Amino acid sequence: MDQRLPVRGTARGPRGAGAAALLLALVVLAAGCTAGTGGVEGKPGAAGVRDPYFPRLGNGGYDVTHYDLTLDVDPDEQTLRGTAEITARATQDLSSFNLDLAGLTVESATVEGRPAAVNRAGNELTLRTDAKVEDRLHEGETFRTVVRYSGSPKTLTDADDSEEGWLPTDDGAVALGEPTGSMAWFPGNHHPGDKASYDLTVTVPKGLTAVSNGVPAGPPVTAGDRTTYRWHTAEPMASYVATLAVGRFTTKTSTMAGGITVFTAVDPESAKASARTVARVPEVVEWEAGHFGPYPFSATGAIVERTGDSGYALETQNRPFFPGPPSMELLVHEMAHQWFGDSVTPATWRDMWLNEGLATYTEWLWAEEKEDTPAQESFDEAYEDEDNWAFPPADPPSAADISEQPVYGRGAMVIHKIREAVDDDEEFFALLAGWAKAHRHGNATTADFTAYVEKATGEDLSELWKDWLYGESRPAADG
Ligand code: TRP
Ligand code: ZN
Repeated sequence: MDQRLPVRGTARGPRGAGAAALLLALVVLAAGCTAGTGGVEGKPGAAGVRDPYFPRLGNGGYDVTHYDLTLDVDPDEQTLRGTAEITARATQDLSSFNLDLAGLTVESATVEGRPAAVNRAGNELTLRTDAKVEDRLHEGETFRTVVRYSGSPKTLTDADDSEEGWLPTDDGAVALGEPTGSMAWFPGNHHPGDKASYDLTVTVPKGLTAVSNGVPAGPPVTAGDRTTYRWHTAEPMASYVATLAVGRFTTKTSTMAGGITVFTAVDPESAKASARTVARVPEVVEWEAGHFGPYPFSATGAIVERTGDSGYALETQNRPFFPGPPSMELLVHEMAHQWFGDSVTPATWRDMWLNEGLATYTEWLWAEEKEDTPAQESFDEAYEDEDNWAFPPADPPSAADISEQPVYGRGAMVIHKIREAVDDDEEFFALLAGWAKAHRHGNATTADFTAYVEKATGEDLSELWKDWLYGESRPAADG
């Protein structure tokens, strides 16, 4: 249990003490107590976790273990009504705590079943409970928060002008969350450092499908003119790879080797043009597992919209999202993220190159093994591309740059340089698989990665990191 003193605060105060003594004790305790009401020396949870690019993203003082989201979506009106049940463990004694939410109207909130006061400022919700509940928000304790909300979810514009959050489509909508968009459709701790399991129950007009991460938790249920879909994600998931796609979809379910569920959802207008590529999802998963170790999830698949509905692909967990029929390259890239990004998740947005460098390198590997283009050729091409040299991959200058070319191309060059340093492909792939295993379902920093590689190779690679990962200028190609 926790290490607090056994008697602290009124709720645990000594029984049978004289009224005067008790009153005195109350006064003294209240005076020394930051919260002032609960008699617990709790402090407000921080409004952000100081991400280098998004300092207010996420919240301090607790860890979410599970989200249970129930949504009713009206695609004609582009509105939703939601209930978010959030199970979290306090990592400090809390007098109040924050959730991230952009837009929407909060109708009510409870913590441990009792009403909580909600204050909104920007994308921060602050929940303050009454004294009775506060006494339960001690470090190490698990507590449940329920937020009821509704409204028109927002499309958010990123620092680089791309759109995320809630994106209306011709026949519904899709929710995409990298890097901060998931706060547009549910309240939560929206920093990648806080991963959780999810249950999602979504009701949509009959005839439309609601697709999300994980596995279907039972068949869709239609009542009147509404159909309810249920999705379960057992493995930890960062909120930026959580998704919901509502629309007309042709869906297919199958099972691949190892019992992995393959669920694909394709907009009928993209069906023909994407059929061949989507059919290769299991093959890509198996090929990547051959290089990176066991596929980290119980389900895979793809969500394919119609061209023009949204601008970019995203490695949504289990089921990458594609804005139209994907190329093999893109499928290979997004599927590689299931290991590098979704299972091994960046600790902060500065560690983004770990996602994109490894996913891009996986494209180079595919080209090498399937298309007779040696990775060295892809490296040489990237080396000549001026766009790769704008800044060091491990240190983008601003939030607008985290998805710029150096994070991808130069990130992949770093991996190629490691392969050269290892100078043995068997060892190199063992190293990649070892990395995926070391932080499976967790988070990792760039420092974790460089330390891991040095330990695995037994080499001091500080020159490699200095030149290729952190250096401002282009090193010699064979440097
Ligand atoms: N991660 C996506 C990919 O590589 C690209 C992407 C979409 C992205 N939205 C983003 C990257 C926002 C950074 C920030 O396929
Ligand atoms: Zn990517």
